[in-house]
Amino acid sequence: MNFHTRKWIKPEDLNPNGSLFGGSLLRWIDEEAAIYAIVQLGNPRVVTKYISEINFVSSAKQGDIIEMGITAIAFGNTSLTMRCEVRNKITRKSILTIDKMVFVNVDEYGNPVAHGRKEIKFIEEQFAAEDH
Ligand SMILES: CC(C)(COP(=O)(O)OP(=O)(O)OC[C@H]1O[C@@H](n2cnc3c(N)ncnc32)[C@H](O)[C@@H]1OP(=O)(O)O)[C@@H](O)C(=O)NCCC(=O)NCCS
Repeated sequence: MNFHTRKWIKPEDLNPNGSLFGGSLLRWIDEEAAIYAIVQLGNPRVVTKYISEINFVSSAKQGDIIEMGITAIAFGNTSLTMRCEVRNKITRKSILTIDKMVFVNVDEYGNPVAHGRKEIKFIEEQFAAEDH
């Protein structure tokens, strides 16, 4: 799994107890997964369909640097299933895991449409494919 986006935990990201607010983390992950799906499926219109159990493994505090990792685990006809992990960038301690996040490729009317993708593509391959 590649860990791309990093976040620096600031006061506005905290819950009243002074640790990272779960809602903030979920918002970041949903966006991270959406970007991953857009790149993999080559379509800017993807929607979150399903998120499995979310395990908040450990907390993060103000000043921590965290990093988010997403990887594709299954390409369906219209869907893409991903796995997610968030960890502390410095200590590598796991903060959150999600076994399944399903995004659906949709058309301009919001209806599911086949994406035709079967395997993980890296950004260089995506651009190379567009050049030809
Ligand atoms: C996404 C949406 C268009 C799918 O519509 P749908 O009628 O369920 O479509 P389908 O039954 O054809 O399913 C589409 C794909 O999702 C998968 N899917 C549907 N329900 C699922 C579930 N509960 N868990 C996992 N995958 C699911 C199907 O297996 C299918 O994948 P495949 O084509 O790769 O086999 C519709 O549910 C929707 O608009 N939901 C709201 C999305 C949204 O607004 N998200 C933002 C959060 S507010």
